[in-house]
Amino acid sequence: MEIIAIANQKGGVAKTTTAVNLAYALALIGKKRVLLIDLDAQGNATTSLGFDKNELSYTVADVLLDGVPLADTILYGNDLDIIGANRDLAGIDVSLADVADAPLLLKNAILDSHLDYDFVIMDCAPSLSLLTVNALVATDGVIIPMQCEYFALEGIADLMDTIEKLTTINPKLHVRGVVRTMFDGRSTLVQDVSAELENYFGDKLYKTYIPRSIRLAEAPSFGKSIFEYEKSSKGAIAYHELMNEVLAQRA
Ligand SMILES: Nc1ncnc2c1ncn2[C@@H]1O[C@H](COP(=O)(O)OP(=O)(O)OP(=O)(O)O)[C@@H](O)[C@H]1O
Ligand SMILES: [Mg+2]
Repeated sequence: MEIIAIANQKGGVAKTTTAVNLAYALALIGKKRVLLIDLDAQGNATTSLGFDKNELSYTVADVLLDGVPLADTILYGNDLDIIGANRDLAGIDVSLADVADAPLLLKNAILDSHLDYDFVIMDCAPSLSLLTVNALVATDGVIIPMQCEYFALEGIADLMDTIEKLTTINPKLHVRGVVRTMFDGRSTLVQDVSAELENYFGDKLYKTYIPRSIRLAEAPSFGKSIFEYEKSSKGAIAYHELMNEVLAQRA
C-alpha cells in the first residue's frame, strides 16, 4: 500500500483538485483500490466526491481524538472510498496540544486498521498544522502541487524544512514529486517560474503539468471527477498522464 500526501501550505494551488482527480485516475483508469482521506476542515474533497460534509458520521477527528478505528470511518463509494472531513477537524491542534505522540496518531491508526488498498491519498489543508504533520508522518512520499505564479516558492522553504525535520520520525519521508497546476504556458511569467521550479526541484518536477481548465473547476460542483464529468477534456488527459508518472515511480 502506497500512502501519498498532497500538501502545500499555500492556499488554492489545486491540492484538492489534484488529490481527487489523481485518486480517481488511479481507481478508474489504473484499476487500483484507492482510499482518499480528507484532512482539511474545509471538506472540499468530501464535497467534490458528492458527499454532504454536514452529514458525516465520522471524520479523522474521531480517529485522532477519540480513538475510533480508522476502518469504521470510511465511506464506501462505487469507484473509491473516502474518509470525509468537516469543521470537526478545526479544533484538533488545540485538543492535542499536550499529547506527546500527537504527530504519530494517524500513522498508528492506519497501521492498526490493516487497510486493504493499493493507494491512500491524503488531501491536506493549506497550513503546516498538526493534521498536516500527521499526514507527513504517515506518508511514504509527498506530492506538492504548485501554481507557476510570482509567489510560488514563497513558503516552500518552510514545507521543505518541516519535511526535513520530520524525517527523524519518518525516515522514508521525501518529496515524491512537484506538479505544476493551473498552467498557462502563454504567459512569460509562468514560463519563468516554471524554469525556476525546474532549477529548484530538478527531476522531482513531474513532466506533466495540469493546464488551466474550466472543466476541472466545474466538475466538483456536480460531485464528479474530471473523468466522469468530461473524460476527453485536457484536464482529464493531464491527470491521466500525471497518474502514469506517479505509477512509474513505484518501487
Ligand atoms: N487546472 C485548473 N484549472 C482551473 N481551475 C482550477 C484548476 N485546478 C484547480 N482549479 C480551481 O482553483 C481553485 C482552487 O483549487 P483547489 O481547491 O483544488 O486548491 P487547494 O490547494 O485545495 O485549495 P485550499 O488551499 O483552499 O485547500 C478551485 O476553485 C478549483 O476548482
Ligand atoms: Mg483544498
